[in-house]
Amino acid sequence: MANGLAIMLYIALLWCCFGNTPASCSGNETDRLALISFKGSIDQDPFGAMSSWNDSVHYCDWKGIACGRRHRDRVTELNLRSQRLVGSLSPHIGNLSFLRSIDLQNNSLYGPIPPEIGRLLRLRKILLTNNSLDGRISTNLSSCSNLQYLSFRHNRLMGSIPAELGSLAKLKDLGLAGNKISGTIPPWLGNLSSLSRILLYDCNLHGEIPDEISRPRGLTFVSFYLNNLSGKVPPGLFNSSTIQYLELGTTNLGGSIPSDIGSTLSNLRGINLSWNSFTGTIPNSLVNASGLEEIEFEANEFTGPIPKDLGKLMHLYWFETESNGLDGDLMDSRGLFEDNPSTGIEDTLVSVLRIGVACSTESPRDRMQMQDVVNELRKIKGVYENCGLTQD
Ligand SMILES: *[C@@H]1O[C@H](CO)[C@@H](O)[C@H](O)[C@H]1NC(C)=O
Ligand SMILES: *[C@@H]1O[C@H](CO)[C@@H](O)[C@H](O)[C@H]1NC(C)=O
Ligand SMILES: *[C@@H]1O[C@H](CO)[C@@H](O)[C@H](O)[C@H]1NC(C)=O
Ligand SMILES: *[C@@H]1O[C@H](CO)[C@@H](O)[C@H](O)[C@H]1NC(C)=O
Ligand SMILES: *[C@@H]1O[C@H](CO)[C@@H](O)[C@H](O)[C@H]1NC(C)=O
Ligand SMILES: *[C@@H]1O[C@H](CO)[C@@H](O)[C@H](O)[C@H]1NC(C)=O
Ligand SMILES: *[C@@H]1O[C@H](CO)[C@@H](O)[C@H](O)[C@H]1NC(C)=O
Ligand SMILES: *[C@@H]1O[C@H](CO)[C@@H](O)[C@H](O)[C@H]1NC(C)=O
Ligand SMILES: *[C@@H]1O[C@H](CO)[C@@H](O)[C@H](O)[C@H]1NC(C)=O
Ligand SMILES: *[C@@H]1O[C@H](CO)[C@@H](O)[C@H](O)[C@H]1NC(C)=O
Ligand SMILES: *[C@@H]1O[C@H](CO)[C@@H](O)[C@H](O)[C@H]1NC(C)=O
Repeated sequence: MANGLAIMLYIALLWCCFGNTPASCSGNETDRLALISFKGSIDQDPFGAMSSWNDSVHYCDWKGIACGRRHRDRVTELNLRSQRLVGSLSPHIGNLSFLRSIDLQNNSLYGPIPPEIGRLLRLRKILLTNNSLDGRISTNLSSCSNLQYLSFRHNRLMGSIPAELGSLAKLKDLGLAGNKISGTIPPWLGNLSSLSRILLYDCNLHGEIPDEISRPRGLTFVSFYLNNLSGKVPPGLFNSSTIQYLELGTTNLGGSIPSDIGSTLSNLRGINLSWNSFTGTIPNSLVNASGLEEIEFEANEFTGPIPKDLGKLMHLYWFETESNGLDGDLMDSRGLFEDNPSTGIEDTLVSVLRIGVACSTESPRDRMQMQDVVNELRKIKGVYENCGLTQD
């Protein structure tokens, strides 16, 4: 009797999994139900991104879904970026326990980021940039101990940065910029030793930049612009040789720049201190940061001369020192390239760039698009040079 039942079950299972059956029979029912629930909470899908999400297609073959190599019926990726999806995030997403990557950036998702995401212990990447998500950042995210990339930029999140996130030891990217986040920059960020990019611009943050922030050894991108901070830049931040971009415009910060900044921040590509109260001189040593592309010091209290040596920076395409107390009160880079054979052209380039950059994107901080602009202008520069216009 028991044997008969077992055999019948076995046959049913074989039929179910290998016969000509609906896709729902094979694979993990939990994952399938979670995805159906995810789809159910999307109200609008104008591009039909989820039209393949139907019963005649196995869920591992649904658009935007990838399943595991070892666990072949377990969903590991959910990627529906830039699909103009309107809707909320189903809490059932927390049942996709093999999920490693969620990329739903650049849609119109609203409502909270479900705390159930904290159940996704394998999650490495969660990209929700440019949506309309609101509410607070759930402390449960701290359970995602494998998280490396977290981007919630440009949403409507509120509240302070939860201290629990300090346990995300593998975090490389922290992007919370462009939200109604309040509070201070947490010192525990300095304990996240893998941290590379900290994007906390336009967040309503106040208080000082904690000294600890410079502890991670591989910082590349530090962006705090458009926050009402106070005090000075902690010395360690001016001494983190891996930093490529340091964006501190409109932060209410002051103090002077260390004279050896170009030697300590030797990998610097962009520095923006505009609209603050920085004092002292513009250090000569900046010429030693040979990869510098952008120097933006507008509207501060810098005094003294503009170091002529900066004209030697081969990659510099943006130099702005307007509204300071600098000698000669130069408007921009005029004069900077006097000793440089390409005088005139460089001058034109800077003007063109000011316009180009200003118009290029609604968010001038988007490096991909910035880079395109740079490349375009390099091409223009290249044309001038090849035409021999810069020879005399
Ligand atoms: C499906 O996944 C859930 C959660 O990981 C698990 O409990 C369940 O046993 C799995 N079912 C099958 C048929 O593999
Ligand atoms: C299911 O999706 C596939 C692939 O997009 C499509 O060809 C098929 O027509 C769909 N079936 C139904 C019933 O919508
Ligand atoms: C955002 O999505 C829209 C609509 O799909 C697309 O036109 C736009 O290029 C996307 N933006 C980015 C930065 O991917
Ligand atoms: C999946 O998640 C939802 C909401 O978090 C929950 O109610 C449900 O019991 C979970 N399990 C399965 C098997 O769907
Ligand atoms: C952000 O999303 C909105 C609406 O989907 C879109 O119009 C806009 O282009 C997106 N912005 C970027 C920078 O991708
Ligand atoms: C959030 O985390 C707490 C503590 O670990 C847990 O008790 C709770 O069930 C979690 N909430 C969800 C929705 O998973
Ligand atoms: C950083 O980690 C150390 C050692 O684990 C701990 O003592 C300290 O309190 C942490 N600092 C912060 C700001 O969390
Ligand atoms: C910025 O913070 C200071 C205190 O540090 C405060 O006095 C000032 O009103 C704030 N400014 C704005 C625009 O919020
Ligand atoms: C700058 O960093 C170097 C090497 O990391 C270290 O030896 C030096 O003491 C630091 N200087 C300051 C002023 O923090
Ligand atoms: C510098 O930062 C300010 C914000 O304070 C921003 O408006 C400006 O566009 C930035 N300049 C460059 C060249 O990125
Ligand atoms: C640039 O670096 C070299 C070598 O480290 C150093 O001798 C020189 O003084 C630096 N230049 C400036 C202007 O700081």
